[in-house]
Amino acid sequence: MDQNKLKQLVGREAVKYVEDGMTIGLGSGTTVKYMVDTLGEKNKKEHLNLMCVTTSKKTAKQATNLGLTVKELDQVDEINLTIDGADEVDHDFNGIKGGGAALLWEKIVAKNSNRNIWIVDENKMVNHLGKFPLPVEVIPFGSKHLFRELQKMSLNPRFRTNVASALVKTDSGNYIIDLNIGNITDPIKLAEDLKGLTGVVEHGLFIHIVDEVIVGTNDGVRIVN
Ligand code: 5RP
Repeated sequence: MDQNKLKQLVGREAVKYVEDGMTIGLGSGTTVKYMVDTLGEKNKKEHLNLMCVTTSKKTAKQATNLGLTVKELDQVDEINLTIDGADEVDHDFNGIKGGGAALLWEKIVAKNSNRNIWIVDENKMVNHLGKFPLPVEVIPFGSKHLFRELQKMSLNPRFRTNVASALVKTDSGNYIIDLNIGNITDPIKLAEDLKGLTGVVEHGLFIHIVDEVIVGTNDGVRIVN
C-alpha cells in the first residue's frame, strides 16, 4: 500500500473514536489532513455537535471550510480527545513531532487533552528516536547565538528554511532549528537540557503524552496502547 493510502486508512480509523458532543483537538500534517476530511464528512452526515480546537492555522482553515466548529483553546473548558500525527514513535510511547513546524501548539493542545491518539504509518515506529531531525522552536531574538550554543552541545543544528530559502516562521512567529542528532539515547535528559536553554520556546520531543497509537500497515490497522 502506498504511504498516502496508509495515511488515509489511519485517518479514517481515528475518526471512529469521535463521539457526538465531544471537543476534539485536531493535529497538523498530511496524515491529519485525511482525518479532518473524514471528520468533516462524518459531521455532515450525522449532524454531530462537535467543537474543534486546532494546532495550526492550516488545520483551522481546513476544518472551517468543511463546516466544523473551530474554537480557540481558551474558549473551551476541556478537550476530550486529540488526534494528531507524529514523525517518529518509539516503544516507550515517546515521539518526535514538528515536521510541519506546528509542535508548540500541538504540545499545548496535547497537554490539555484528556486523551491523545497519534496516527502514523508503520515506517514511523522506531526502536530509537532521532533519525528524524528533532525540531526546536526558538524566539527569533538572539537565535544565532542560541544556534551556536546548540552547535557547542554537538547537536548539529540547522535553521529550517522554505523553498525560497527564507527562514520558516511558525504560527507564533518563531523560527525552527532542526537538530540532526542521530540516535537519541536519553530523550528525557535531552528534553530537559533543551528546555533549560534561554530562547527555546519548545522542542519536538513528546515524552509520555500519547495514550494510543493507530499504526497503518500493509495488513491493515494496528492499535498500540
Ligand atoms: C506537524 C507534526 C505532524 O504531525 C508530523 O510532522 C507528521 O506529519 P505527516 O502526517 O505529514 O507525516 O508534528 O508539526
